[in-house]
Amino acid sequence: MTVFYGPSNPCNICPRLYCYLQELNKKQPEGHNGPVTSFGAIESQLLIVGLAPGAKGANYTGRPFTGDHAGDVLYGQLSTFGFSKGIFKQHINDGLELINCRITNAVRCVPPQNKPIGSEINSCNIYLSQEIAAMKKLKIILSLGKISHDAVLKVFGLKQSAYKFAHGAQHQINDDLWLFDTYHCSRYNMNTRRLTEDMFAAIFSNIQTKLSSLS
Ligand code: URA
Repeated sequence: MTVFYGPSNPCNICPRLYCYLQELNKKQPEGHNGPVTSFGAIESQLLIVGLAPGAKGANYTGRPFTGDHAGDVLYGQLSTFGFSKGIFKQHINDGLELINCRITNAVRCVPPQNKPIGSEINSCNIYLSQEIAAMKKLKIILSLGKISHDAVLKVFGLKQSAYKFAHGAQHQINDDLWLFDTYHCSRYNMNTRRLTEDMFAAIFSNIQTKLSSLS
């Protein structure tokens, strides 16, 4: 049986993250303040892999990308492209359902300054690996940013030199699986227009096209 870790199955592999969670729990005891588990059905064909929960977003609400700017952008596109049903309202009781799509993070605990360190990314890779192995119908993984991209390559034992991260890239991982890349939809990337809404929408349009060609 695959065991996904989450609040009821805690993890203390990363001392820095464990301490930071305890600190946040004192500051905002009403928040989730634990590892954030994935959202969406395990039978989905699309898996979106973010970086790590935000302190006031997923770490607070307990659902990936819920409660921060990056989430507003991501869930907006998911709705436009038919990967969600219902109205996204920045809290976990909004009744939002994902359609054929699941969202997770390369690192499941909130890191200080939104920056996980190498050992934390590596330690958390086991959970991403379990996640991917459990998704029997998986066809596309969408990596939001290079850290996510590298974490996915690590799961498959693939070299970064052979599968370079690039916004808009589509890498074939094996007969059944593709890895798509996009810049992360963070507030910083959107404000600096490294990533625009149109660029992000184009990625989801490509995903739709690829999914229909694969099924
Ligand atoms: N929220 C998440 O859950 N993950 C990210 O990568 C960013 C914000």
